[in-house]
Order: sequence, then structure tokens, then C-alpha cells
Amino acid sequence: MDWKSVIGWLVYVLFLLMCSCQKEESKVVGYLDVPYGFPNPTFPMDNEFNESRFLLGRKLFYDPILSSDSTISCASCHKPEFAFTDRKKVSEGIMDRIGTRNAPSLGNVVYLPYLLREGGVPTLEMQVGVPIQEHNEFDDNILLIADKLNRQKIYQEMSLQAYNRLPDPFVITRSIATFERALLSGNSPYDDFIRGDLKALSSSAQNGLKLFNSPELKCSQCHSGFNFSNYSFANNGLYENDPDEGRMRLTNKEEDRSLFKVPSLRNVEITYPYMHDGSINTLEEIVEHYKSGGKNNPHKNPLISGFTISEKEKTDLIDFLKSLTDDHFINNLNYRIQ
Ligand code: HEC
Ligand code: HEC
Repeated sequence: MDWKSVIGWLVYVLFLLMCSCQKEESKVVGYLDVPYGFPNPTFPMDNEFNESRFLLGRKLFYDPILSSDSTISCASCHKPEFAFTDRKKVSEGIMDRIGTRNAPSLGNVVYLPYLLREGGVPTLEMQVGVPIQEHNEFDDNILLIADKLNRQKIYQEMSLQAYNRLPDPFVITRSIATFERALLSGNSPYDDFIRGDLKALSSSAQNGLKLFNSPELKCSQCHSGFNFSNYSFANNGLYENDPDEGRMRLTNKEEDRSLFKVPSLRNVEITYPYMHDGSINTLEEIVEHYKSGGKNNPHKNPLISGFTISEKEKTDLIDFLKSLTDDHFINNLNYRIQ
């Protein structure tokens, strides 16, 4: 790290200490398009939802001004048409710097109790600082970004309207987090089905749903609830020795070695390649992986023990996973710069 990023980081941490430790949260019922039956998203006390915050956050999300050489934006790695992923094995930052992990979808991030694959970041506001200072992503400094924004009248105006202050780290992190909290996906054929439209799923997908929930396959024991994750950390047997320490990177505990947050499966048909390192390319390979029970990692979760499944059932299971694709979410123009 050079002096520029060290100072930027220190200032960022200081500013977080000043204003982002408010844990109290309040329920908001606003003009967010909350899918029927989903819990109301919660917003921090110091960052309630409103439209001007959302619009500023959206503009910043798509603006390469956030990267040190102004070449990439958040949306370079989180593209709306791919449910806010990037179709790359691992992501690529400025100057083609290769990262180590696959970019996850941002659909329903408001419901995640912690962020990143090891769960080390508690709020979306704090997470914004990660790509900004990360060498393999924007490699920038939040104070310099604020300076750049202050040179543009449009950002000054939008910032004053949203937060009653000029662009600064508070505004940058708060507004982007607001945009992200509105990225809600819950209008897939599966959702129509559980809301009573029994024709929304083919009989194959319906059978796949049963398999997914079955005691033999056990998928729903980790991928549970409306967002298909219990947010626990597990090793699902991808490698015998995984070079990625996973949650241990955060906790330093051997028992957490190569454990990763259980991801949501919403829109999984289009968020390939899969897993923390993008090492699995297709849903067919996913099913083969779980069928085999995975590799013999000492930390592998006991639920990953393999099962027998016919060719027809494989197709059914995949048809069910594809029924989680939410066209309404992917094509939602509110989420794009118009
Ligand atoms: C160079 C590609 C890249 C860029 C640019 C990028 N991200 Fe990411 N993002 C990733 C990767 C890779 C991860 C997973 C990292 C990990 O788990 O260690 C991630 C994770 C996240 C997560 C956590 C999601 C979860 O399921 O825990 C959020 C939220 C997020 N990014 C938002 C943003 C925002 C906002 C921006 C812009 C300020 C941004 N990202 C810029 C690649 C990128
Ligand atoms: C013990 C908990 C557990 C069980 C049981 C489980 N999974 Fe997973 N699943 C995970 C974890 C953890 C990951 C992420 C691993 C990583 O990031 O490397 C994952 C990843 C996935 C992914 C990739 C998602 C993505 O976007 O990268 C798919 C698809 C998936 N699981 C489907 C299934 C199916 C189908 C079953 C049942 C046959 C199943 N899982 C059973 C924990 C589990």
C-alpha cells in the first residue's frame, strides 16, 4: 500500500467509527417494490430510504469515476443483465488485475446478515469501501473520489438533495447502499407457483422442488427460506485442500478453514460460473458435484454425503433451479441508468 491508500483507509475507518455504528434499525414501508410475501427490508436509522438517495446511489454504482483510472464501475462486475454478477470466473479490476473470487449476485443483499463470502463485513455501507480501496478492484481512495465528485455540479446537487451535504465518504457509502437495498428479486415462476399459480411450474420443475426439499438431497437444509440461504458457513467439498481459507481468514480458527457463506440460489440459471472461485460452470456439473458427495475436505459439512439420482430427476432438479430466474428483476429499468 502506498501513502495515498493508507491515508484514505485511515480516514475511511475513522469516518465509519463516527457514523456507521448505529445498530438500531427501523422498518420502512415505502415505494420500494417489495415482492409479495417478502419481509420488509430494514434500513439503518441514519440512512432511511428515499428516492433521491436511491438515484444518487444508482448513478454512482454505474460511474467509473469510482476507480483510480476511471475505467470500471461497480456495474463492471455486478451487471444487471446477469443478476448483478459478471460471468467471469474471478473478477477483473482496473488494468486487468485479476481477483481471487467470483462476484456474487446483489439480488436481495438487503436481507444478508453479513457480507462477503467469509461474512466479514456487517453492513452495505461498510462494504462499499472494500472495492474502492482493493488493489485488484478500484484501487482508489474515497477522499479523492469525493473531490472528483465535488467538481461536478450534478453530483453536488444530487448529494445536497439526498443528504443535505456535499459529496463526502458519508454520502458515497450511504447512497450506494441505498441503491443496493432496493435490488429485490422475488417474482420468478417459482414465486408465482408458491403464491398459488399452480401452472407457473412445469411438472418437471415441481418434481425438482420436491427433490430439492427431500431428506435424500438435503439442498434446502442449507439453501432454505425465501432467499434460499440459511446464511450459515459451510464447506461443500469443492476441494480436498482449498487454497482459499474462507471464513478462517476472518476468525483465524482452524475449524473455519475453507467455509463459505451459503449463497442464495435466486437467478442461479444466469449467475454462472459458480462457487467462491467460479470453478463450476453449469448446473449439470453442480448436480454431479453434490451427487458425488464432493471431495474429502476435513471440514466438509456432513450434509454433503452424496445421493443417487436418475437422469430424469437430474433434469427435474435443474428445471426447478431455472424456475428461480426472475425476468422482472433482470429487466427492471429502475435498476439501470436511463
Ligand atoms: C472488480 C470486480 C468488482 C467490482 C468493481 C465491485 N465488486 Fe462487489 N464483489 C466482487 C467480488 C469478487 C465479490 C466477492 C468478494 C468476497 O466475497 O471476498 C464482491 C462482493 C460484493 C458484495 C457482497 C455480496 C455478498 O453476497 O456478500 C457487495 C454488496 C458488493 N460486492 C457490492 C459492490 C459495490 C457497491 C461495488 C462498487 C462500489 C462493487 N461491489 C464493485 C467484485 C467486484
Ligand atoms: C451443507 C450446506 C449445503 C447443502 C446441503 C447444499 N449446499 Fe449448495 N452451497 C453451499 C455452499 C456453502 C455454497 C457456496 C460454496 C462456495 O462458495 O464455494 C453452495 C453453492 C451452491 C451453488 C452455487 C451458487 C452460486 O451462485 O455460486 C448451487 C447452484 C448450489 N449450491 C446448489 C445446491 C443444491 C442443488 C443442493 C442439493 C443437492 C445443495 N446446494 C446443497 C452449501 C450447501
